[in-house]
Amino acid sequence: MKVAIIGGGGLVGSSAAFALQCGGVVREIALIDVNRDLAEGQALDLQHGTPSVADQAISTGGYEQIPDSDVICITAGLRRKPNESRLDLIHRNTGLFLQILKDVAAAGPAPSAIVLVVSNPVDILTYVAAQQLNLPYHQVIGLGTQLDTIRFCSFIARAINVAPTQVSARILGEHGDSMVPIWSSATVGGFPLDRHPNWRPNLAHEIFTRTKGSGAEVIKKKGGAGFAVGIAIRDVIHSIALDQRRILPVSTVQSGCYGIRDVALSVPTVVGRSGVLGRLEIELWPKEVQGIRNSARRLTETLKQVLPSVG
Ligand code: 2OP
Repeated sequence: MKVAIIGGGGLVGSSAAFALQCGGVVREIALIDVNRDLAEGQALDLQHGTPSVADQAISTGGYEQIPDSDVICITAGLRRKPNESRLDLIHRNTGLFLQILKDVAAAGPAPSAIVLVVSNPVDILTYVAAQQLNLPYHQVIGLGTQLDTIRFCSFIARAINVAPTQVSARILGEHGDSMVPIWSSATVGGFPLDRHPNWRPNLAHEIFTRTKGSGAEVIKKKGGAGFAVGIAIRDVIHSIALDQRRILPVSTVQSGCYGIRDVALSVPTVVGRSGVLGRLEIELWPKEVQGIRNSARRLTETLKQVLPSVG
């Protein structure tokens, strides 16, 4: 499988490329970036490591890489300022993103190509990409709350001193200020989180607050996320590449799950080689469902502001 990463020279795109290289699953990683020298430098650095990792092709170039790409990952875009919300970013990123979509469409993506949107605000831009690209909606996926979910699990693991890979908990809704912690199904080692001897109910607020603020915290400390967002992107691309059909909290244009329609946000989504294979309206606590619907309302309001300029 070939993956093209638009914005591949940047921190997010190059971190995704490195995560895919270490994963050793995809066959080719193509870095596309307006800053060609930067993309070539990232590709050269990645290539130097190939003998010890995997027999992958690492390439660079322009949109001529699109027609034979199986996954087109769009990470390009301006990053938030430390006190800026992801939704505030919309006015600065929409024009750039629309141009990228035009260039992708003009380059002629394969009919079976999957587009993975990472650029923020990811839920808004996923909806715009689904609208603008002539691809079926099940082939347009946003990274959504997959990054928030692994951050959430990492903080739970740290708080109760357990192996991070043993924690399973989800964030759903908006990849943004209205994201929703799903405590109702949180488990550790296959057992309910609240049965673990180290769990205390007062940990919940602290853990979720830290999760929700993680994007801004990382921006403040190091300018922006790299490693973890690269891992989150790898999680989704591997589910596509290996047809794993994992249930992932990724953003797609909704058509009724939890009563939500015509807006992109994250619900439990089955992801395989053809993209979205299904969405699961898994039973949640009423307040969790209300939280997801609140995300939908906020995102719909923003879409109303953005869509007139999108055309
Ligand atoms: C974050 O939360 C990049 O939106 C991403 O760090």
